[in-house]
Amino acid sequence: MKGVVLAGGTGSRLNPLTKVTNKHLLPVYDKPMVYYPIQTLVNAGIQEILLVTGGKNAGDFLRLLGNGRDFGLKHLNYTYQEGEGGIAEALGLAEDFADGNPVCVVLGDNIIEMNICRAVDAFRQQRRGAKILLKEVADAERFGVAEIRGDYVVGIEEKPRTPKSNFAVIGVYLYDTTVFEKIHRLKPSGRGELEITDVNNFYVQEGTLTYETLDGWWTDAGTFESLLRANHLVAKTGANKISEEADAAAAAVRKAGQ
Ligand code: G1P
Repeated sequence: MKGVVLAGGTGSRLNPLTKVTNKHLLPVYDKPMVYYPIQTLVNAGIQEILLVTGGKNAGDFLRLLGNGRDFGLKHLNYTYQEGEGGIAEALGLAEDFADGNPVCVVLGDNIIEMNICRAVDAFRQQRRGAKILLKEVADAERFGVAEIRGDYVVGIEEKPRTPKSNFAVIGVYLYDTTVFEKIHRLKPSGRGELEITDVNNFYVQEGTLTYETLDGWWTDAGTFESLLRANHLVAKTGANKISEEADAAAAAVRKAGQ
């Protein structure tokens, strides 16, 4: 399995913090924001990683991350998103990199307390379709919201006024290789972007979208409130923790040849 970190966009909700830099380079406690999603992938045993970025400061990612030595990586891949086409468009740029492999996608502003080893392991067994991660939240209307039945997701609504559940769709997605064909079929949403929620709903229509709930806290960091919360949470408890059980899962993922 290969990993993709999506770190494009203008970060307009954080203006003027993002006037001269990319949102994902802003600090979250003691590290730049983009360190956290990369660590999430590395902790799940994923070593082949592509960073998709864009905007005026793309070169700063290379200066900051190089070949990923801070994460124990030998090599880090980069690509550039022209314009503002949305999360799904950014993921579409990973098609050549994926090269027929399943992918684990993490949004560059999503930070988690624990790890995603259990979900990655379960998705390896699932083989086809997709898996998303859910977290119960009090403010579901801010996110993609999932309706679930048994082991399956039966619908996702993007930022609904009246959420059908408290399950927010966090920015970690596991896809089989058909994701790119699905992205090619997408039409821009009302805000002119290709939406990741529409990709996930293609899997819902196929009946192949499963989920895991996430242990520990989760936050995004794309608004002033959530960026402040992310700083507090990381300072208080630390992020990207690995348990013994998760270590075993990561080792299993590595052994399976990713
Ligand atoms: C995006 C997704 C949304 C998801 C969220 C997680 O929203 O569209 O479904 O719940 O990330 O962080 P955005 O933060 O781009 O508004």
